[in-house]
Amino acid sequence: MEEYHKHLRSDDLRGKLLIGKTYHRPVLLGEVLEVLEVKAGEWYLDCTLGDGGHSLEILKKGGNVLGLDVDPEAIERTKGRLEGFGESGRFKAIQGNFRDIKNLVLQMDLADQKFAGILFDLGVSSLQLENPERGFSFGKVGPLDMRMDPTLAVTALDLVNGLNKGELYELFTKLGEEKYSRRLAEALVSAREVGPIQTTRQLAELAEKTLGRREKIHPATRIFQALRIAVNDELNALKEGLDQVMTLMEENGQILVISFHSLEDRIVKNTFNNWEEEGLGKVVTKKPITPSNLELRENPRSRSAKMRVFRML
Ligand SMILES: C[S@@+](CC[C@H](N)C(=O)[O-])C[C@H]1O[C@@H](n2cnc3c(N)ncnc32)[C@H](O)[C@@H]1O
Repeated sequence: MEEYHKHLRSDDLRGKLLIGKTYHRPVLLGEVLEVLEVKAGEWYLDCTLGDGGHSLEILKKGGNVLGLDVDPEAIERTKGRLEGFGESGRFKAIQGNFRDIKNLVLQMDLADQKFAGILFDLGVSSLQLENPERGFSFGKVGPLDMRMDPTLAVTALDLVNGLNKGELYELFTKLGEEKYSRRLAEALVSAREVGPIQTTRQLAELAEKTLGRREKIHPATRIFQALRIAVNDELNALKEGLDQVMTLMEENGQILVISFHSLEDRIVKNTFNNWEEEGLGKVVTKKPITPSNLELRENPRSRSAKMRVFRML
């Protein structure tokens, strides 16, 4: 923990110690920088800005960054963190979903800009996970929300209380790859007869009661994943985002995607393989890059990270 805070202190742009504020720890940071080989003056597109951990290092190496994030809170916070670079015009940020990536770039003064590198670091940030109000974590008591974009119409609460047994089963199976989906869907529907499931804790306890604590991971892990993916339509957003990146790349530019579960990784792998077959460039990572033992020890949240890289012709 002490190490972590030392890192955060040196990481902070102006050296000011932000008491009570800890930043998301960027995953595979060294590996991202090694692949990118940042060149001063080139532009990089960070499609999942979060707390700006990756962007900060790209900026420090002289690259320019356009960052986007669907979560307005992340944009505001990171604009503050990277303010100095913003003032010099080397950092720009915009709130939006990467499924609209082309339009978002058009909205900036960078309409004709091509990017040397485009990064997707998927999933949620520590900031989102640790705020109980956002409802992402089964370890905290909060409302069943799970929207990364607070303007989305449907929350996890709506799905948990509104889907029928068959729909819950399908959701948990398809988006959670949960092998006990049927039992969980049945337990959920019976519990709802008493009253609605309103909090993350209620849902987590229901999963614990239904499945027990047999595995290393919490029994609610996969259903939380399924609900989050559904609420944010994450898989379609990823496909749509990847469909648009080609037109934004410089010659020899690279696309890096860090994913955290097999559903995302499969989309990335298949997309990159298709691009290679179409002659658009080369898959750089035949096997995905994963965190070192040191990173796994220091940041357990990195444990399921897989990075794939594609280089344009
Ligand atoms: C793992 S965090 C990124 C952390 C960041 N690389 C850092 O070092 O601080 C993922 C971020 O992506 C954002 N995000 C997820 N899906 C998105 C989407 N479809 N469009 C834009 N941002 C998205 C989330 O709101 C979250 O802030």
